[in-house]
This record gives sequence, C-alpha cells and structure tokens, in this order.
Amino acid sequence: MTNAWSGVWRGRGPGGVEVRNAVPDDHGRIVAVCDDWWGRPVAHILPRLFLDHFPTTSLVAEDDGGIAGFLVGFASPAHRDQAYVHFAGVAPEHRRSGLGRELYRLFTEAAREDGRSLVRAVTSVTNERSIAFHRSLGFAVTGPFDDYDGPGDHRMCFALRL
Ligand SMILES: CC(C)(COP(=O)(O)OP(=O)(O)OC[C@H]1O[C@@H](n2cnc3c(N)ncnc32)[C@H](O)[C@@H]1OP(=O)(O)O)[C@@H](O)C(=O)NCCC(=O)NCCS
Repeated sequence: MTNAWSGVWRGRGPGGVEVRNAVPDDHGRIVAVCDDWWGRPVAHILPRLFLDHFPTTSLVAEDDGGIAGFLVGFASPAHRDQAYVHFAGVAPEHRRSGLGRELYRLFTEAAREDGRSLVRAVTSVTNERSIAFHRSLGFAVTGPFDDYDGPGDHRMCFALRL
C-alpha cells in the first residue's frame, strides 16, 4: 500500500510543504507548538500514546521553519467502517492555504481505500473556525452535546460519509 496510511508515505502539499507519515518523535514537536496554534492550552489532548500507536495513520507537514501542520487520526478497531481524526492543526502562517483540507483529503482517501465509509471527529462548541472548516469539507455537523467528554466538556460532532 502506498497511500497516506502506508507508514512510509511522503509527498508535497500547498506551497511546497512536505507532507509525510508521522513518527513517534513527532509528539514532542507537536506539543511544543499546539498551545500557541490554538491560543489556549491543548497539549493535554495529545498524550504520547497517539503518536506511539497511530503514526501510520497520522500525517505531519513541514517547511524549512519546522512543523507546518499535522493530523493525528486512526482506523477505529471497534467500528470497522469508521476512521477518526483526533487532533489536527495548521500553523497560523500556513492557514487558508488549503493545507488543512489536503491533510484531511489524504486521510480520508486512505480511509476509503482501507474500506472505511465514515470519518468522525469532534470539537469544542466554541471552536467556530473548526466548525466552519469541517462544514466546508462536507462534514455533517451535530450538537452541541452537553458533557460529551465529561462534566462541562460540551462538544460538536462531525461525520463525513465517504
Ligand atoms: C481549522 C484549521 C485546521 C484549518 O486549516 P487551514 O489549513 O487554514 O484550512 P484550509 O486552508 O484547508 O481551509 C479549507 C476551508 O475551510 C474553511 N475555513 C478554514 N478556516 C476558516 C476560518 N478561519 N473561518 C471560516 N472558514 C474557514 C474555508 O471554507 C476554507 O476554504 P477557503 O479558504 O477556500 O475558503 C486551522 O485553522 C487550525 O489549525 N486552527 C487551530 C486548531 C484547530 O482549531 N483545529 C481544529 C481541528 S481539531
């Protein structure tokens, strides 16, 4: 398999950024930037286990300055028809370049080739940029779901039929 879930995939994204499969050591690079990118503390959302266990279905984009974007996702072991995007972000200087769309395109194409027919993700109810982004990619948006991730952690849910 030579798609974005092959574990050895690499290619070019918008503006010539390099896009490749993640490796476990990307965990440190991602948590070093994500609080800045989100404008609030979010590093706790990405424990190292995600990069240790799901690098082959996750993607990292880089330019000369370092990490430009990432998508951490996986093929659901419990729901064989589904794939899940856990955490995705694009550096502020690369936003609106189509990089987020390209990371999702690579992920969903590989999911389809793996026999998955549904991609899911969630976001906080206040993340209007994320909601607009997912809606623009064709995801159905539902919610808010109160206490979805625990007391006070309300979420919007996204679903894309492939
Ligand atoms: C959400 C995010 C990943 C989008 O990445 P991006 O590379 O800027 O997105 P793209 O350039 O591929 O945009 C694709 C489409 O999404 C929509 N979109 C993206 N950002 C948007 C914004 N700020 N407001 C409204 N719509 C937006 C647009 O329709 C856009 O298409 P267009 O530029 O042709 O109009 C990025 O803004 C980000 O990292 N935000 C902070 C982290 C975050 O909230 N991540 C959410 C996923 S967990």
